[in-house]
Amino acid sequence: MDDYIVFDPCAGVGNLENQFGKDYKQYCYLSTLEQMDVDTCKLKDFDNAIQFDYLANDKQPMFKYGGTPLDIKEISKRENRKLMIIMNPPYKGMGNKKDKAIEFFNKVIKLEPDVIVYYCKTEFFLRDTISYFLKSNYKIKSHIFSNAKTTFKLSSWMVSLVIFDKKNGEKLDKNEIPIDRYELNAKTEKLEFLKTLTYNNESYNTIKEIENIIRQNDTGIRLGQWTNQNYCLTLSERKELNNKITTNNLKYCLLLKGINFNTHGKYFETSNLVYKGEVKNISSELFNNAIMFSLFYKGMMFTNKGQKNYIMPFTSQELGCAKNDLNILYPEDNTLLAQLEQNKKPFDFREFLAQFEFSKEAKDLYNSALQIFKYYHKNDEYKNKDWNDSFYDITNAIMGKDISSFKTMDKEKDTRITKVKTIEGTKGFGRNTIKYVVNSKDLPIFENFFETRDILAKKINKELLEDGILLWERENLY
Ligand SMILES: C[S@@+](CC[C@H](N)C(=O)[O-])C[C@H]1O[C@@H](n2cnc3c(N)ncnc32)[C@H](O)[C@@H]1O
Repeated sequence: MDDYIVFDPCAGVGNLENQFGKDYKQYCYLSTLEQMDVDTCKLKDFDNAIQFDYLANDKQPMFKYGGTPLDIKEISKRENRKLMIIMNPPYKGMGNKKDKAIEFFNKVIKLEPDVIVYYCKTEFFLRDTISYFLKSNYKIKSHIFSNAKTTFKLSSWMVSLVIFDKKNGEKLDKNEIPIDRYELNAKTEKLEFLKTLTYNNESYNTIKEIENIIRQNDTGIRLGQWTNQNYCLTLSERKELNNKITTNNLKYCLLLKGINFNTHGKYFETSNLVYKGEVKNISSELFNNAIMFSLFYKGMMFTNKGQKNYIMPFTSQELGCAKNDLNILYPEDNTLLAQLEQNKKPFDFREFLAQFEFSKEAKDLYNSALQIFKYYHKNDEYKNKDWNDSFYDITNAIMGKDISSFKTMDKEKDTRITKVKTIEGTKGFGRNTIKYVVNSKDLPIFENFFETRDILAKKINKELLEDGILLWERENLY
């Protein structure tokens, strides 16, 4: 540190620089947006703290140096010290090009500092935003990441601490980006090194590829709508929406959901950026496991309430009803083209499912889910039952949720999940909540279901790695 002066263009209240101790404050030059923060910095004895909007224009802030206003480059020359930028810039948006943190980076580069110590979203290195770092020609002296929750007490996303150096360090290579993963040790309250993850920014995004296949194959009869928020599959009347689930792309919709079901935001679990394999490398075993899994996991929101559910996996024999009780979807033959395309063949989900060969673990999930369907149909407690009630309808009924009371989003073009939240006081369908709503004698049916679903989820996670689809093993199953 004795060779440097430090400049922070978004210093806030100077927490980063405060760590260097009292004697170093004279070498710290801080500018920030809010005058109130400047006042706090002054109270902390940062004499070189000024108010400055760093993104307002091309200018650099001018600090008083021996009575003269000078920019930081000039001050570093006069001090005969190298220039180190330290910053934790503000973020905006999801890593898009206009993200403020990138704008800060692009502007400090113009000062040609010797070192830049930069906090940023780790995802900047996994997205196109990496091009700005490459363009800078700075080398990487170190790159570590952890969770913003432990680092900054924010929510769960990956935050990197990168040290860029003008001369020393590794050249940034898009094909091989090593990032060291740290985790907070609760006892010592220190971040500890766990492992190095290597990312390849150049290759392929499996999820985007599947989305493209879905779009290219959205002919056939419309069944519903998919969302790319967390890959819910829903039945929707709104025909103008783009993300159509049809009889021809259904298998890819189920695949998408069944390989990307994690809702845990902690360590890349929800990020589709770590899916890097080609769709053609997905083995049929993994493909079919994913299809089965997605039928019985949350977000599978086909409903038979107020609409017709055509995604009923079980046969009439299995359910114990008459064959004609189960929905079959007939093509809407209003246009000649539709007739030609669909060959006028009705869609029966049982027939659709029969084309796949399922693993033992997938069959186990199917059978354990069937027990839940049978339990529901046998039980008089649940009213207004229909043989076509979906997994979603049945689990809602069991948990005491009335889906007719769900709010519907009113934005016309909103492609997100069309129903929001649940009714107050009811719990989600899960291992820990089921005991509140069913008799203890019936609990084994549900325990068995959750157990078989976990087994299949673990298998899918393992196969994603084996088939080279997922870059890293997930740290959290769901
Ligand atoms: C993530 S915080 C960094 C906090 C800082 N390290 C601290 O110790 O308080 C980002 C800071 O950048 C400031 N900021 C936001 N936009 C700015 C701008 N255009 N110019 C300068 N500072 C800005 C915010 O006011 C905030 O204090």
